[in-house]
Amino acid sequence: MPAEPDSVSGTKVLVACFSATGNTMPLAEYAADILGADLYEIVPQEPYTEADLAYYTDCRADREQEDDAARPAINGGVENMGQYDTVLLGYPIWHGRPPRIIYTFMESYDFADKTVIPFCTSGSSPYNDSGIKDLVGSDTTWVTGQRFAAGTSRETIADWLETLELGGNPSVEGNTLYLTVNGHTLTATLVENSSTQALKELLADGPLTIDMRDYGSMEKVGSLGADLPRNDEQITTNPGDLILYQGNSLVLYYDRNDWNFTRLGKINDVTDQELREILGTGSVSMTLALLE
Ligand SMILES: Cc1cc2nc3c(=O)[nH]c(=O)nc-3n(C[C@H](O)[C@H](O)[C@H](O)COP(=O)(O)O)c2cc1C
Repeated sequence: MPAEPDSVSGTKVLVACFSATGNTMPLAEYAADILGADLYEIVPQEPYTEADLAYYTDCRADREQEDDAARPAINGGVENMGQYDTVLLGYPIWHGRPPRIIYTFMESYDFADKTVIPFCTSGSSPYNDSGIKDLVGSDTTWVTGQRFAAGTSRETIADWLETLELGGNPSVEGNTLYLTVNGHTLTATLVENSSTQALKELLADGPLTIDMRDYGSMEKVGSLGADLPRNDEQITTNPGDLILYQGNSLVLYYDRNDWNFTRLGKINDVTDQELREILGTGSVSMTLALLE
């Protein structure tokens, strides 16, 4: 297996979210998608029914919020929390504060040396992270987040994330491309041409996820959703070659081919066999990023 790239150039983000009636979850999904981050849904072991959420009726949620010691159990957990540097934490406001299940979440993991950034939705109440903030030590960086209305747009979330400067600004100067596929992050060294320059400018806005299908038992190919300048030439490919096909499709070769197209770069530090194993035989979703 290839070595895991180090994290000096970026930050690994988890977006964790509890959403009882579905308002907060889409915002978490936007954030995870924009950042190329993992998404974890905080699922209660005992689901909240409509009656449980009928607030101001002494319902289950009302009683939990009144009880400092209430810690509703969570179903499942985050796989290897240690790998994350930053946790974006989404939840609804319940009686002016985070639901008690968020307290359970905070007490379930060690947040030392991590950055936690809450965000919430509410009917009208302001942002609140009281209580949960007190559950971490001084070695956790706590960033005051933001409250959003239900139905907040992806653009608004993107604007907010930009202000957080997670992982710094992607560099269009460097020649390293990070490709995440089937849970593996590969690096590629890009060649210098107008095609890779345009690709880097495309990725300066954030990671791009593309669906790639298997073709001809030699490659994964998928649309970039944009037209890049072409520098086509006759090329005999080798496994690991990254190619631009017809100016708008990305191809990752795991076998040989001979065609007229544009060389973008080559995957680093992986054997032909490892590459085949990582890519598998079917379609894949691949995220391209300038930062790890
Ligand atoms: C038990 C409970 C208490 C709530 N308390 C408040 C509140 O104090 N202030 C407020 O503006 N909205 C309150 N709401 C409304 C939710 O914060 C709002 O609908 C939120 O967007 C729900 O997010 P979700 O769909 O992700 O669960 C409450 C909702 C519930 C179920």
